[in-house]
Amino acid sequence: MALLIIFTRLRLEEKLLNEAAKRENIPCELRNVTDFYYGGGNFCAPGDVVLARCVSHNQNESVAALLESENVRVVNPSGVMRLCGNKLSTTLALQTAKIPQPNFRIAFTPESALEASRELGFPVVCKPILGSWGRLLAKVNDPEAAEAVLEHKSMLGAMHNVFYIQEYIEKGGFDVRAFVVNGEPICAINRTSEHWITNTARGGRATNFTMDGDVEELLKRTHDTIGGEFLAVDLFNSGGRWLVNEVNDGGEFRNSIEPTGVDIPGAVVRAAWEARVR
Ligand SMILES: Nc1ncnc2c1ncn2[C@@H]1O[C@H](COP(=O)(O)OP(=O)(O)O)[C@@H](O)[C@H]1O
Ligand SMILES: [Mg+2]
Repeated sequence: MALLIIFTRLRLEEKLLNEAAKRENIPCELRNVTDFYYGGGNFCAPGDVVLARCVSHNQNESVAALLESENVRVVNPSGVMRLCGNKLSTTLALQTAKIPQPNFRIAFTPESALEASRELGFPVVCKPILGSWGRLLAKVNDPEAAEAVLEHKSMLGAMHNVFYIQEYIEKGGFDVRAFVVNGEPICAINRTSEHWITNTARGGRATNFTMDGDVEELLKRTHDTIGGEFLAVDLFNSGGRWLVNEVNDGGEFRNSIEPTGVDIPGAVVRAAWEARVR
């Protein structure tokens, strides 16, 4: 019985998770999934639990689904990955649970997307429904820019033919990235940037953010809606009101350990190891 950390590229995060498991006396193995193909023999022993850490969301979700079909417990479960990996699915789940989020519109042609943007009011933000690290996000300030961006998107193929448009939130130069392990908010960072995209992968600076009761409550409700052992939730403060922008399944946390002083990898491996008996 072991904790298998599966990966395709050994990032700092996977090394930190492996070291944390050693510190916690959890039997742990790093497994490179690029050597694996389904149907070629057993990947796990009975009772193993898998912490899925492939860089590609698509590969991570696929390998999780395959292992679950063999009754292997995977953290996060593939259903959680499916919800988090698609911004439209996340948005719909949040909406059903009445969790506050930026206003949005979904359209299927550039023309109706332009109409939807006018209705929301400029500026708007266009996002691919699949993707991360702030890639291919567009802040669109006026109808002429919208026409151009939407036409370009319509040429990019099937991945971009669902137009996801959000109101632009004046968020005061920062957003919050909060980590939720087993439904408990464990720490959060404030991501500050001169750029409207505040991802640390895009140069956002991380400092500790002390969560108050309202933020913790919102994060717990978000976890009740999405599920999963390890979530990273992006929050905006809009005129004093908190909105959930995005829910990521796990992801990168290297920039959040030092500012928060919280052992994020330790909490994650403990939660994964406990999940084997749940
Ligand atoms: N509607 C919005 N209003 C203001 N800023 C936004 C909005 N949407 C995204 N951003 C900025 O862009 C960043 C990345 O957006 P996000 O939706 O989290 O996509 P990704 O999956 O690429 O991280 C956010 O952390 C935030 O700084
Ligand atoms: Mg994000």
